[in-house]
Amino acid sequence: MKIAVARETREGETRVAMVPELIGKLTALGYRLAVEPGAGEGALHSDEEYAGAGAEVSDDALSDAALVVSVGPLDAATVRSLPAGTATMSFLPVNQSLDLVADLRDCGITSFAMELVPRISRAQSMDALSSQALVAGYRSAIVAAGLLRSFFPLNMTAAGTVPPAQVVVLGAGVAGLQAIATAKRLGAVVKAYDVRAAAAEEIRSMGAQSIDLELETLEGAGGYAREMTEDRAQRQRELLAPYIAAADALITTAAVPGRQAPMLVTAGMVEQMGPGSVVVDLAAESGGNVEGSVAGQVVRIGHAQVWGGANVPAQMPGPASRLYAQNIVNLVTLMTAQSDEGGTFAPDFDDEIVVGSCVTHDGTIRHEPTRAALEGPAAPEVGPGETTPEERP
Ligand code: NAI
Repeated sequence: MKIAVARETREGETRVAMVPELIGKLTALGYRLAVEPGAGEGALHSDEEYAGAGAEVSDDALSDAALVVSVGPLDAATVRSLPAGTATMSFLPVNQSLDLVADLRDCGITSFAMELVPRISRAQSMDALSSQALVAGYRSAIVAAGLLRSFFPLNMTAAGTVPPAQVVVLGAGVAGLQAIATAKRLGAVVKAYDVRAAAAEEIRSMGAQSIDLELETLEGAGGYAREMTEDRAQRQRELLAPYIAAADALITTAAVPGRQAPMLVTAGMVEQMGPGSVVVDLAAESGGNVEGSVAGQVVRIGHAQVWGGANVPAQMPGPASRLYAQNIVNLVTLMTAQSDEGGTFAPDFDDEIVVGSCVTHDGTIRHEPTRAALEGPAAPEVGPGETTPEERP
């Protein structure tokens, strides 16, 4: 059975879904690997490296593949060229990709979305949201340190003392904790805030000061944050304002799954920051935590340079691809049945990781919120002898 590695089509995407180093793990499961030419170029992996690792590099890598892996979703033309029954594995932001989901359904493709892998302990090694957030969090601190025309660490020299940078991090999930750890390693004084109760302990364990606003915590299902009411958001902004005004660098990483990023910092709050200050908004692509930030650009608000993140993991394509590829290997391993003839791609639809991450299968949409968005509410079940509301007089 063949697994194909697609060349990415999204502009600026430098990552690749499989790295040469991990090809052997898939061939050991019994698969043949085929790679589209140039697929690894952005992540500095040559076609020769893939061939050397045992993959076939070919323009028609995707034909006859049982599974096509990529970072971003395949484009509509490629989806329509695949035979029914082919499986795909990629990030697939379903609420922004309804037309593509309809194509995947109509073409009989079995599609798995990496962002839908359930966040349960057993699936941690397959969790690409976490692996890519780790990269983005590290990068956000490096960007802040690069933009700030001053030291992060305290420097005591014979020529005098330079105080350390004051860094504030908002949102202390996977990306935020990595931003804190990186800023701490560079010697900054770091303060951080998150709405989840558990976050305060995690912030302190990274050596940062946890900002206590004495507001109720907002824990939602599965340990994630809940959305704030506008009153709560307003109060939080008022209480955070002095911390932000005193910061040399502000890094925001807050998200609420499936929703637009909460606006934590107004332009007015940024205007209170001092000369030379910097803001890094990792949530710029999903609406922004900072009012006025623009994804992929550095804009000026007051004295501050405000950097809006756009596909930030792609700025470190080597490690981001390596981690993503390992997530893919672990998910493929889960979905492989072993027999005397070797490995077969055979997802078990009784497994909650398979069910949770599946978007389309067998001509139907399996992810219920996406199905409802495209096809409307499910028809009520009608028992024998019963009538539907429409049939009733
Ligand atoms: P995320 O990317 O959805 O959000 C980032 C952070 O922003 C979160 O910590 C959230 O609490 C925070 N946030 C949201 N609204 C905020 C607001 N108004 N003000 C301040 N902060 C706000 O979250 P991420 O990083 O993907 O994970 C969050 C948590 O999920 C983890 O800390 C962990 O508890 C859990 N998790 C579980 C995993 C597993 O079991 N496989 C894997 C990864 C995360």
